[in-house]
Amino acid sequence: MPAQIIEGKVIAKTLRTKIKKRVDFFKAKGIVPGLAVVLVGEDPASQIYVKNKAQACQECGIKSEVIKLPSTIQEKVLLTLMEKLNKRRDIHGILVQLPLPQHLSAEVIIEAINPAKDVDGLHPVNMGKLLAGNPALIPCTPYGCLKLIQSTGCAVSGKKAVVIGRSNLVGKPMAVLLLRENATVTACHSYTQDLVEITRSADILVVAVGKPGLITGEMIKSGALVLDVGMNRLPTGKLTGDVDFSSAAEIAGWITPVPGGVGPLTITMLLENTLEAAYEQEDILH
Ligand code: GUN
Repeated sequence: MPAQIIEGKVIAKTLRTKIKKRVDFFKAKGIVPGLAVVLVGEDPASQIYVKNKAQACQECGIKSEVIKLPSTIQEKVLLTLMEKLNKRRDIHGILVQLPLPQHLSAEVIIEAINPAKDVDGLHPVNMGKLLAGNPALIPCTPYGCLKLIQSTGCAVSGKKAVVIGRSNLVGKPMAVLLLRENATVTACHSYTQDLVEITRSADILVVAVGKPGLITGEMIKSGALVLDVGMNRLPTGKLTGDVDFSSAAEIAGWITPVPGGVGPLTITMLLENTLEAAYEQEDILH
């Protein structure tokens, strides 16, 4: 039987309606949750992502401020900007769009963000809290993946979960989140041997590598839940994931499409994190 499609777009819409209501609650108290998005350089994909983030903020009533900077900007200028944003009362969340130009260290810039405003969940303090199992701002894409898994009603506890890719942005926090949900987690990467054997054992398979068609139907366990985080632009201009959708959908129990799967959730969880940061900074109970 073909897989059930996990409709990220629909799930995101439902979540955003709830977020908007919570934003209205803030506004009734005279507070507008605010997000600063910093874009350095002209990367076309980043420009689209940032535009989409700003639009989603607007739709939910969150104030967004997009700060566009030239790719030649010096690190110390960016660090001064972070200091200013850290101090601003009207900005509850700060996101620096990645990747940064080569001469800038993402590590240094991210560490300059106040962890309470780090809505990307990439500051070592937030990463550490996540690893330790303490409340933290959680990186948006893995957080969204967890919401998608939960939307299926499938149990995670005791299941075999396999995460392919070990980036700080997705793979590593995803593995930790699944572990937190009591899955038995295997983290795979470019050095992993016998990948097929491992993927075939997965009840939950998360693929976040950036290689179109890496995972095909024959690499998937029958009935598995498959989350495709890949966003690859083909030479034809078509957007495609890391999973070969048509063969995988024949075998999987659940699967996310690309586009319209994980992507809409990433932005939704950014809104959620901005709101979460606002609750903390404004000392409002929820
Ligand atoms: N570039 C691609 N995805 C992301 C993301 O989730 N956050 C940031 N800051 N940059 C990205």
